[in-house]
Amino acid sequence: MSTAADDVREANRGMFSSRRVFILAAIGSAVGLGNIWRFPYVAYENGGGAFMLPYLVALFTAGIPFLFLEYALGHKYRGSAPLSFARLSRGTEGLGWWQVGVCFMIAVYYAVVIAWALSYAFFSFGRTWGDDPDAYFFGDYLQAGDPGVSLDFVPGIILPLLAVWGALIVVMALGVQKGVGRTSVIFIPVLLLAFVALVIQALTLTGASAGLDALFAPNWSALGDPAVWAAAYGQIFFSLSIGFGIMITYSSYVKRRTDMTGSAMVVGLSNSGFEILAGIGVFAALGFMAQASGVAVGEVATSGIGLAFVAFPAIVNEAPAGALLGFLFFFSLVLAGFTSLVSVLEVVISAVRDKFETSRLRATLVVTIPCAIISLVGFSTTSGIYVLDIVDHFINRFGILLVAVVSMLVVAWVVRGLPQLRDHLNRDGSVPVRGWWIVLMSVITPVVLGYVLITELLAVLDETYGDYPGWMVLVFGWLAALLVLVAGFLLARIPWRPDTPVHGQEREEA
Ligand code: PFF
Repeated sequence: MSTAADDVREANRGMFSSRRVFILAAIGSAVGLGNIWRFPYVAYENGGGAFMLPYLVALFTAGIPFLFLEYALGHKYRGSAPLSFARLSRGTEGLGWWQVGVCFMIAVYYAVVIAWALSYAFFSFGRTWGDDPDAYFFGDYLQAGDPGVSLDFVPGIILPLLAVWGALIVVMALGVQKGVGRTSVIFIPVLLLAFVALVIQALTLTGASAGLDALFAPNWSALGDPAVWAAAYGQIFFSLSIGFGIMITYSSYVKRRTDMTGSAMVVGLSNSGFEILAGIGVFAALGFMAQASGVAVGEVATSGIGLAFVAFPAIVNEAPAGALLGFLFFFSLVLAGFTSLVSVLEVVISAVRDKFETSRLRATLVVTIPCAIISLVGFSTTSGIYVLDIVDHFINRFGILLVAVVSMLVVAWVVRGLPQLRDHLNRDGSVPVRGWWIVLMSVITPVVLGYVLITELLAVLDETYGDYPGWMVLVFGWLAALLVLVAGFLLARIPWRPDTPVHGQEREEA
């Protein structure tokens, strides 16, 4: 039963004005750098066209069902990640804070990449990177020195990074609907337009079809390789923004009596649609590049930072109307990344607000200012790129995936909460959720993800990550991942305010 007091409390927390705004915000979170610079190469490397099979299996058996789980948690218990978990069962609150910790870490470095992309959107017009984009990016732009920790600041990074944080603070301070919601309502359609324009332009380049052949040519034997299946599950989880509390937080801002399963289908399918579109755009451009330099597509195919800041500028240098191509690409990265960044910050701000009952503005400043300072001090120096690479690698694996597996197991086996979440979803959901969902969430998906995680763990233990000095990997990798875990469980020990109902509160709608 919801009471008038609940309604007032909810209105104070913030609400999306409609289901459409929620869906756009969720798509804004899901569609990020992962779609544009990660998916195309993961697909190419793991069987090309044949990768679609494990990818779709992972989407329908793990991604969308796990979206259901997070939507049900947030929507039923109507709180940030820690509050929703606490309401599910008091002892599980630490899981929510662990997610908050992961989000804090992600925000700190993700903002840096958006800042680089912002610079590069402008650089596209004058091809500021010159004839050797590799040397320009690492040398002139980042001024990367030896791996280690330096306090030599790079002014060229500080400025765009300040701009990114400034914009973030404004958006976050404006609140759930006016800030988060409205940003997505504007950015997502613009992103789609910009990206479709980019894909059309890329498809007109000579050699584009060779790129698409390389991407889509199926290598069926890949399907027998467990690593390919692991890659598909990893991509789906990262790409849908599940496992780090974002979807719990966003769904807590959705009006009661809303179709959450239908919303999850829309979000899941839109995200994958965008991913495939990105694959087409990126590989068409890579095909052009390969032809222009007389090499096979495999020689130029890459992902991540190398794709965006080295390969793409090289393509821009060669392509007709390259400046436009470059601008559309970097502008898309900024838009897609910004809405994802907003979503991770919202997880932290929402948790702080719920726990300490502070105003929106206060919580925003308390969260974003330290985040911005760490981001500036840690990553706008000549050693920033190395720290970023290590933190990213470890947080992705031992933050997101680990917390996803643990929370699934806890909800399914310790709290035995799946049946009540299923009932909640079925009240207004357009996709009927039955026993298959319980089997997927309690057995099949945790087993598959556990396997992915263990393989990753063994690989990391085996070779030590990258060519970095051991202490750097220890501090920024292992210790950082451990720190968020410990901090999470410590935060969970702080008591809730007396006027925040936690215990045994059934938040079911009237
Ligand atoms: N779904 C996002 C993506 O595909 O890029 C994942 C993500 C990463 C979301 C980092 C938010 C974030 F800050």
